[in-house]
Amino acid sequence: MRADEIRSRFLDYFARQGHAVRPSSSLVPADDPTLLFTNAGMVQFKKVFLGMEDPGFRRAATSQKCVRAGGKHNHLEQVGVTARHHTFFEMLGNFSFGDYFKRDAIRFAWELLTEEFGIPRERLWVTVHYTDDEADQLWREIAGVKPERIFRLGDKDNFWQMADTGPCGPCSEIHFDLRPEGRRGTEVGQEEFEEAGERGGFLEIWNLVFMQYDRDADGNLTPLPAPSIDTGMGLERLASVLQGVPSNYLTDLFTDIIAAAVETVGVPYEYDSPQGVSYRVLADHARATAFLLADGVFPSNEGRGYVLRRILRRAVRHAYLLGRREPTLVLVVESVIDRMGTAYPELLGRREYIDRNTRAEEERFLATVDGGMRRFDEIAPEGGSGTVAGRDVFRLYDTFGFPPDLTELMAGERGYAVEGEGFETELGGAR
Ligand code: ALA
Repeated sequence: MRADEIRSRFLDYFARQGHAVRPSSSLVPADDPTLLFTNAGMVQFKKVFLGMEDPGFRRAATSQKCVRAGGKHNHLEQVGVTARHHTFFEMLGNFSFGDYFKRDAIRFAWELLTEEFGIPRERLWVTVHYTDDEADQLWREIAGVKPERIFRLGDKDNFWQMADTGPCGPCSEIHFDLRPEGRRGTEVGQEEFEEAGERGGFLEIWNLVFMQYDRDADGNLTPLPAPSIDTGMGLERLASVLQGVPSNYLTDLFTDIIAAAVETVGVPYEYDSPQGVSYRVLADHARATAFLLADGVFPSNEGRGYVLRRILRRAVRHAYLLGRREPTLVLVVESVIDRMGTAYPELLGRREYIDRNTRAEEERFLATVDGGMRRFDEIAPEGGSGTVAGRDVFRLYDTFGFPPDLTELMAGERGYAVEGEGFETELGGAR
């Protein structure tokens, strides 16, 4: 099942259950200084949960554009290296604003996964907050999940909040058993379950949040006007499950885009290789670049624009590692627009603008990347070790446009540490 079909079937299912299917909101949250980018489906409904806004419906479903590349939920460092991390991704979600609560949220999720999408029940495991007897009971009663397959975890895993403040609540996650064939389905203890999860043996696919509180800046929790539901399921992960592939990057959401990058660059794509990582970074960052530009974020030296600039420059560096010395990302961005423009027409509407700005930013960095890479090789030669001085991090930034986090990443790849403070001192002195 292609990802486009998965997305529509999710939304159609919830439309049949009386939900208003709403468009994704912008990646730039409207009037919300607590958040750099939209990082979850509930963001556009924050005020509805808080009782400050009436949207005219009490149930909704969306496929929301999300970026997690800064702030509380940041995936930037892991992109390309792991099978699951992205800076940009799509979150499928259903929402109840004081309408249904735990019972129906669990019923809908179970029915959609096992009946509509046909995922075998024996591959699914669930977690609940350790205090949540009710959710534990409902999973047994409604879904027939055996008690041995329900784990009770702490706040880190089973309490969700969008940012340091705002709506939050205990949650319940559905995990897909990805252990090797022989072990699949066999019972595990909680500790083993958590360990296997870290190694990718269990994949979290859906998070059901039982929204109950508003957290203020001092950490106090005030009950929301009415218990509500916020859920989130990464389309990329669900696609990997339904397409039976071990990495999100092997789903059709990425294969076309990676193929376009391979065609442009000309170096073969092998999944387990440094080139494989570079191609995946290019594909991921091309998606983020296209969608951020489409939503009006402009590369700059601060705030959101700086996150975009860092993403763009990381992508250029990976194209450089693949041997490219001319604009490349722009061509990958083109394939993102072709691939995703039907689901997100804003990409088509701003195609020319997205292309022009990606190319301009790429050209600007390409003009200095060569000098910067050579300088970096002198500072942190391959096979060496030690610490990169803050003033070198600063010089790479000031002269060659290397964002400090890029230098840090490159240093880390070669086993070097980076001096934290020197950069700030130099930056202060230069201002
Ligand atoms: N808002 C919840 C999450 O992002 C569903 O996981």
